[in-house]
Amino acid sequence: MYRNLFAIPRRDRDREWVYFCGHSLGAQPKAASSYVRRVLEQWAWEGVQAYFSDRAHWVDYADRLREKLAPLVGASPASIALAHTLTTNLHLLLASFYRPTARRFFLLIERQAFPSDRYAVQSWATWWGYPEAVVELSELVPSTEAIVAQIEALGERLAGVWMSGVHYLTGQVFDIAAITQAAHRVGAWAGWDLAHAVGNIPLALEAWDVDFAVWCSYKYLNAGPGAVGGLYVHPQHHGHVPLLAGWWGNQLETRFAMQPHFDPAPDARAWVHSNPSPLSLAVLEASLDIFARLDLPAYFEAVRSLHQRLRGQLQALPFVEVVTPPQSHGAQVSFRLKVKDPRQAFQSLLSAGFCVDWREPDVIRAAPVALYNLPDEVDAFAEAVAALDPTHG
Ligand SMILES: Cc1ncc(COP(=O)(O)O)c(C=O)c1O
Repeated sequence: MYRNLFAIPRRDRDREWVYFCGHSLGAQPKAASSYVRRVLEQWAWEGVQAYFSDRAHWVDYADRLREKLAPLVGASPASIALAHTLTTNLHLLLASFYRPTARRFFLLIERQAFPSDRYAVQSWATWWGYPEAVVELSELVPSTEAIVAQIEALGERLAGVWMSGVHYLTGQVFDIAAITQAAHRVGAWAGWDLAHAVGNIPLALEAWDVDFAVWCSYKYLNAGPGAVGGLYVHPQHHGHVPLLAGWWGNQLETRFAMQPHFDPAPDARAWVHSNPSPLSLAVLEASLDIFARLDLPAYFEAVRSLHQRLRGQLQALPFVEVVTPPQSHGAQVSFRLKVKDPRQAFQSLLSAGFCVDWREPDVIRAAPVALYNLPDEVDAFAEAVAALDPTHG
């Protein structure tokens, strides 16, 4: 769709990959280097003055970018903050929201949740003295009804639900609104990992009444390796839950008064600890300026249709098992190869120029990204899979 605005990664000097790994690290917007150069020049010319100069004004660069990000998460700019990285933001928000009692301490997470989420949630359960608090969903690809039933079964013993908007392994999109409502009905909160969701599927965090969420920006947001992450806190919680404080969460008006007491920002920025790097924000801005050109509903339809083009061809093959559910998906198609040596088959797809990835124990993930991938690439990949020899690898 906007392929010429991206640098498509290369296998070697002369050949591009068919790059289907935007679920892991999005392609680089070509404009990123000029956005970063601008920050480098501001630094070279202005030094520390760039934080408050009319031209650069880094002091609220992250705050200004919230306007550009807000439509992608479906929240008012005040409810989001750009800072830190996903796991750090998750810890900061669990510190605020996980307040277990002897009666209500269980935490419900997905089956095969991303390891970092699992470690974070488990560490808070252990920290509070409830090491057995983390409960997994019973199925890897559950229906919404099954998830709601598990929430209801835990009932008033459930402290919170921590899930991904899109499961990193299976590519399943969860019904954030219905699951959040079910959590609220039993008096629990619902928080969401949007690493694979933001920029990939439509989100309406505020309308869905989500309590809090975190994301990274290096996947479908194309903001580069280790890019600045984001967090969302529902307005009803601003100022009403305890938080771990840092100076960048102090409101801007008094931040540089260097007072001994914390004077929190009135919104989600209160959770920010440290000054974010303008270099990292610049890459994110380059990418958000591309998203600003899109008709978002039409774009998300294009994402779905590229996925369906790929899954349709793959599931017609007798030795392919598509894991991603047919209706609940974004870009990513997760599948298993029922061949003699699936790992070897994956390697041969890589050698043929298809950049997809392997996740243990046996899942291949391929994400055609409508921003920069083409239907022809989808067809070529499906042909390469079809040409595998199931008796071999
Ligand atoms: C679903 C999910 N959650 C969490 C993370 C961890 O992100 P970070 O390294 O930014 O903390 C990732 C990274 O790929 C992820 O895919």
